[in-house]
Amino acid sequence: MAFDWIQKEWFSKNSKLVFFTGAGMSAESGIRTFRDNDGYWSQYDPMKLASPAGFENDPKLVLDWYQYRRNEIKKAKPNKGYDAIENIAKLFPQAQVITQNVDGFHKKADFIDVIELHGNIHKTHCNQCRKENLDGCELLHDDKPIFCDCGGLMRPSVVWFGESLRLSVMHQAESISRSADIFFSIGTSSLIYPAAQMPYEAKNNGAKIIEINPQSTPLTSMADASIQGLSGEILFKIYQELHANYN
Ligand code: APR
Repeated sequence: MAFDWIQKEWFSKNSKLVFFTGAGMSAESGIRTFRDNDGYWSQYDPMKLASPAGFENDPKLVLDWYQYRRNEIKKAKPNKGYDAIENIAKLFPQAQVITQNVDGFHKKADFIDVIELHGNIHKTHCNQCRKENLDGCELLHDDKPIFCDCGGLMRPSVVWFGESLRLSVMHQAESISRSADIFFSIGTSSLIYPAAQMPYEAKNNGAKIIEINPQSTPLTSMADASIQGLSGEILFKIYQELHANYN
C-alpha cells in the first residue's frame, strides 16, 4: 500500500502537487537513463555529444546521436507512471510537472502544465541566431546538417552541458517548486544543477518531499518519504490510494 510510505494527512483536496521528473521516469518505456550502469554516459562521452564544443567540433556526430535518440523515443510510448500522474492531476487540479526529460512524454497530457527544463528533443533552433523550428524540425536533410538563413547550423532544442537554462523557464520552475505542498522527485539522480535545486526550493517553503527511485541519491536523506522502487509501479499505487481517498 502506497500510504505505508507516505502519510495520508499530508494531502488535502486542495493540495498543490508538483512532479519533478528525470530520466528514470521514462526508463520503463525502454528509454535509457544517463548515469545508470547501462545509461548513455556509460558508453558515450557527454562532452562530445551534448556540449557546444562537441557540436562545434563535429556537428554531424552530434546530430546523428540526437537523430538516434529521436528514433528511440518514437518507438517508445509513455508508461503507466505517466498515466498515473495524469490521473492524479485530475484529482488535484493544481498539479504541475517540471521535467528534465526532453522526450516530450509529459506533454501528451495537454491539460497538465509542464515545464521542460532541459528543452525538447523534437524541436530545433539555430545555433547562431536562435530562430526556432525551421524546416519542419528535421535535424538532418539527406543525411546532412541543415543551415539556417543566417548561416548558422540548426540543432536540437535541448540544453547542453556548459549551457545555461533559459532564465524565464528557470524562474517558472523555481516559483512552481516554492508553491508546492507535496513535491515528488521521481527518477532523477539529483546530481545535475540547477535542476537539482528544485526540491530544496520546495522543502525550504514547507513542502513535503517524496522521492521515488530504486537507488539512493543526494536527496534521499532530506526527503520526507523515500520510496525505493520503479516509478511506473509506485505512481500507479499512489494513484490508487489517492483515488480511493480523494475522488
Ligand atoms: N523508476 C524510477 N527511477 C529510476 C528508474 C525507474 N524505473 N530507473 C532508473 N531510475 C533512476 C536511477 O536510479 C537514477 O537515479 O533514475 C535516475 C536517472 O538518473 P540520471 O541518469 O542521472 O538522469 P537525470 O537525473 O534525469 O539526469 C539529469 O543530466 O545528462 C543530463 O540533461 C541530462 O536531463 C539530464 C540530466
